[in-house]
Amino acid sequence: MSSADPKTAAEQAARERIKTSHALNGDTVRLAQLYRGWADTFDQDQIRVGYCGPVIVAELAGAVQKAYLDGPRNAVRVLDAGCGTGLVGMELQRLGFGLIDGFDLSEDMAEKARQTGVYRHVRGDIDLNGLISDYSSATYDLTVCCGVFTLGHVRPDGLRELARITRPNGFIIASTRKSYADVTSFESEVRRLQGEGVVKLVQCLRNGRYLEEEDGHYWILQMPASHSGAERA
Ligand SMILES: C[S@@+](CC[C@H](N)C(=O)[O-])C[C@H]1O[C@@H](n2cnc3c(N)ncnc32)[C@H](O)[C@@H]1O
Repeated sequence: MSSADPKTAAEQAARERIKTSHALNGDTVRLAQLYRGWADTFDQDQIRVGYCGPVIVAELAGAVQKAYLDGPRNAVRVLDAGCGTGLVGMELQRLGFGLIDGFDLSEDMAEKARQTGVYRHVRGDIDLNGLISDYSSATYDLTVCCGVFTLGHVRPDGLRELARITRPNGFIIASTRKSYADVTSFESEVRRLQGEGVVKLVQCLRNGRYLEEEDGHYWILQMPASHSGAERA
C-alpha cells in the first residue's frame, strides 16, 4: 500500500488526532475544544486505529456482574465515566445491561452518547480531574472508565472520585494505556488508595489489546464493604 492510499492517510490522520489529544496536558478548555471538533468522526477514527478498549471493558463488566453482583444484569446501575460518544455504553447494552448513565467533559461527545439511546442520563461538562459534585456518593454498582486514564486527559487521582460514587462492594473497571500507566505511576495511586481502604485491587489484565499501536492494562477494583471513599477527605 503506498502512502498516498486514502485508507492509510485516514489512519495516519486519526493517529495524529489522538497524539494531539495526548499533548493537551489535562487542559480542560483545550480538550473540550478538541473533542468538539472530533465528535462527528471519533467513532470512525477509533475503527481505523483498531481501538478495542470499549469491547474489553464491557466484557469485563459482564464477567464481574456474573461473578459477583446479585440480581439481574439489566438492574445493575452502571456509570460510564468519560463516556465519549457512547462506544462502551453500546457494548454494555449489547451484553444486556439496561441502567447505564454516562458523563463526559465534552458536551459534544456527551450529546453523541445521548443519541445512541442506550443511556438513561448523560451529562456533559463534568471534569473528572476535580470533584464531580453532581454525583452522589455510593450510587453505582459498576463504574466503567475506558480511554480516559490516558495521556493528557485524567490524572490517576481521578480514581478517588470514581470510588466515592461507586457503592460499597461495587466495582470500578478502568483501562489505562500502557504508556500512561508507566509515566503517571497509576499503579502507585491504586496501591495508595488500597492502603487507605478506598479500593481493593481484584485483578489487573496487563498488556492486553487496546489499540493497534499500543497495548493497555485493564484494572478491576472493588470497593470495600464500608469504604472511606464514600466520604471526601
Ligand atoms: C479517548 S475518549 C474515550 C471515550 C469513551 N470512553 C470510549 O472509550 O470510546 C476520551 C474521553 O475522555 C473525555 N475527557 C477528557 N478529559 C476529561 C475529564 N477531565 N473529565 C471527564 N472526561 C474527560 C473526553 O472528552 C473524551 O470523550
